[in-house]
Amino acid sequence: MNSQHSDVDNCIPRRYTVTSALPYANGPVHIGHLAGVYVPADIYVRYLRSKGREVMFIGGSDEHGVPITIKARKQNTTPQAIVDRYHALIKESFEKFGISFDIYSRTSSPMHRKTASDFFRTLYDKGCFIEKTSMQYYDEENKQFLADRYITGTCSKCNSEGAYGDQCEKCGSSLSPDELIDPKSAISGNAPVKKETRHWYLPLDRYEDFLREWILKGHKADWRTNVYGQCKSWIDQGLQPRAVTRDLDWGVPLPLPGTEGKVLYVWFDAPIGYISATKELRPDDWEKYWKDKETKLVHFIGKDNIVFHCIIFPCMLKAEGSYILPDNVPANEFLNLEGDKISTSRNWAVWLHEYLEDFPGKQDVLRYVLTANAPESKDNDFTWKDFQSRNNNELLAVFGNFVNRTVVLTHKYFEGRVPAAGRLTEADEAVLQEMCAYPARIAGSIEQYRFREALNELMNLARLGNKYLTDNEPWKVFKTDPERVKTVLDVSLQIAAHLAVLCEPFLPFTAVKSRRILNMSESGWDKAEERFLLPEGHVLNPAEFLFEKIEDEDIERQMDKLRAAKESNAKAAAVDYEPQKNPVNFDEFGKIDLRVAKIIAAEKVAKTKKLLKLTLDTGFDTRTVVSGIAEYHAPEAIVGKKVCLLANLEPKNLKGIESHGMILMSENPDGRLCFVEPAPDAEPGMQIR
Ligand code: 2FM
Ligand code: ZN
Repeated sequence: MNSQHSDVDNCIPRRYTVTSALPYANGPVHIGHLAGVYVPADIYVRYLRSKGREVMFIGGSDEHGVPITIKARKQNTTPQAIVDRYHALIKESFEKFGISFDIYSRTSSPMHRKTASDFFRTLYDKGCFIEKTSMQYYDEENKQFLADRYITGTCSKCNSEGAYGDQCEKCGSSLSPDELIDPKSAISGNAPVKKETRHWYLPLDRYEDFLREWILKGHKADWRTNVYGQCKSWIDQGLQPRAVTRDLDWGVPLPLPGTEGKVLYVWFDAPIGYISATKELRPDDWEKYWKDKETKLVHFIGKDNIVFHCIIFPCMLKAEGSYILPDNVPANEFLNLEGDKISTSRNWAVWLHEYLEDFPGKQDVLRYVLTANAPESKDNDFTWKDFQSRNNNELLAVFGNFVNRTVVLTHKYFEGRVPAAGRLTEADEAVLQEMCAYPARIAGSIEQYRFREALNELMNLARLGNKYLTDNEPWKVFKTDPERVKTVLDVSLQIAAHLAVLCEPFLPFTAVKSRRILNMSESGWDKAEERFLLPEGHVLNPAEFLFEKIEDEDIERQMDKLRAAKESNAKAAAVDYEPQKNPVNFDEFGKIDLRVAKIIAAEKVAKTKKLLKLTLDTGFDTRTVVSGIAEYHAPEAIVGKKVCLLANLEPKNLKGIESHGMILMSENPDGRLCFVEPAPDAEPGMQIR
């Protein structure tokens, strides 16, 4: 037995409640969801189960909120129809990827409605809310208050357009509708009016001392720095009362008389969904998962959900009084795709239901790549090339190859029976000792929510086996020393069996296959600290390949899909014209003098990013023009180029240089400025009409 033991063994929580953020049921799920939340949560849970711990793993669809009602309006259907469609699709995708929820529920369920409503009522009765009347935006045409995403405008923090009443997606700031410049109703496009309405607020400011003590003092060491840092910044900025109700007709109705047309704010009801799901599954003993101090509660989320899970929901739980608080909230950063932010509206995503069709039976490959490249401490990028190379060079060439060679050779030399090891060499001893250290090492990483590191350790065990086999060359040695081959294959088979046990949290489908090949029964994590998992004489099943090569064509097909998405976005963007300017008459137009000119010298303007100083031959003079094209054109690349020049623009001083005119440029779909080119044989000085 190995003497190294993981933290969990020293201080074993009796049970675990593990939640994974409830995705909005208004679209399919993509690789960003899987990488950010569900794969790490599933690894954690599978590991705990393999350690024999009692676990409740909760998932479900978040079926309220404004984006769902907006989508329903656009598609001329009901919110219920939207969530029914996507709940089914999302649930199926997760199942097929082996995300092993104990329950995958939904927040439109009657159990949830009652649980959320009762929760609100309890807090209301305890006097935990402030009731306030205020002026809020209202769409007169549609007779509706404009909460959250029903109102859009320019972000007052970063000035970009298209920010929502609850958040600016460009700069990530959380906003209130009053912080939007030039607000518009997302339903009618009209400028809204203000109208009085009454709402209930959770006074977060009253919980500052509690949050400081619990998070800033209590979790400085064990929460991820990104999570801790965000919490600290929220607390230090000063917490404000948060409205927990909305004027909407989709959501959990307020359980108070005289409040028709008001529902709970989606972020009030959604986390209660974790509790409702537990009640649904375990109506008789759900409380032990939420109220027993010996239960460890862990929330897996993406970084945009930190404030809700670390501040608002814990304040709700604290206000209620009988619940436990999360022990950890391992939030991941974001996953990008081929260098660009994943975006549902731009179809820039790898959708899980499509992946399952395009790569049948390869769920573990995606689980592997998303874990090996998990955005645990910073945003990361998924590329199809990396996907291919991790499959071909790591899973196939190392893991699969090792297990396959071991099993094939055992069949070839020993009729598929585990041979008896003879005398162990020092090297054999060392390998076996190292093998036995992996369970504790991998466990240590998982318990600290370092899943990339844990997976790398698993692969190190496969590398150890692969190297051992290659170094010992049983296929050569058999002719001269078959007894030695018995030892080498026994050691190799023990490593393969350890891999089969330890890979289960990461690669559950591969674990099943490996066990089948090795004809192994179930065994827990701790068993893998023993040396011999397969006894002498144990009969193996025939070899099967664990992984297949992914060909260039497979990758090209995926890249084609992405290119098609880019093109259709570009077309859509091109349709998004700037409004036409006011008309000019012929006389006014006639005043403009456009000429062909030739760039005869170009240099960057010092201390600027965008400006180039160009010397132009206009045929009738040589002049200087300062042009804002330095980000797109290197000076040396454009000397000799013929361009279209607005020649009679009045001179302007730019960074101390007098500029005489303007070069005409055309924007491409990526916003890059390209030259408007005159006819190839046009000479400097010729007119452009
Ligand atoms: O960000 C989201 O996708 C939310 N639907 C997550 C909710 S998590 C929990 F509170 F339900
Ligand atoms: Zn912004």
